[in-house]
Amino acid sequence: MEDSWEALQYECARCRECALSQTRQNVVFGVGNPRAEIMLVGEGPGANEDEQGVPFVGKAGALLDDMLAIIGLDRTKVYIANIVKCRPPGNRDPLNVEQDACIGYLRRQMALVRPRILVCLGRIAAMRLIDPKFRITREHGAWFDVDGMRVTAFYHPSALLRDPGRRPEAFDDLKSLQREILRVCTHTELDKPWQ
Ligand code: URA
Repeated sequence: MEDSWEALQYECARCRECALSQTRQNVVFGVGNPRAEIMLVGEGPGANEDEQGVPFVGKAGALLDDMLAIIGLDRTKVYIANIVKCRPPGNRDPLNVEQDACIGYLRRQMALVRPRILVCLGRIAAMRLIDPKFRITREHGAWFDVDGMRVTAFYHPSALLRDPGRRPEAFDDLKSLQREILRVCTHTELDKPWQ
């Protein structure tokens, strides 16, 4: 049977596949344009996201919005989700068993959105979606072809908040994303393209 957003959202809202479901306030499903050509994937909800049920709404989210704005994007033009949909307590990395339990939902979201470009936000997403041996410090900004998509990884916005010295590299990665959007996307309008 063909999948639908309604079925997927319904299943996620009731999911008890891992222990994170016992401590969550909200399942953080995803946000943005379901027909976006660009999809961004973080690692998992933090405290603010758990409270509001929306990805990237805390300080890291504000920085992510600023980063998108630099290349003329906003949340209406992308789709944002996470590797795990429930908050790992204390903001620890999601365990492999938790990622394994949840990744099917993200795969179904990706199949529904069918993005041309996938951006992994941070090491956890890159290790899951590009290569288990992915090294974010060495390989951020590089492009890979995975399942018919152009895929890259950025430093996680939280890492950029902790270490602003990485921001010039993050800016280069954004410019590279912008070039790739102009090259492969057909209906994504960039507001004020950086020249
Ligand atoms: N960090 C993430 O990886 N995802 C969120 O939704 C928020 C913070």
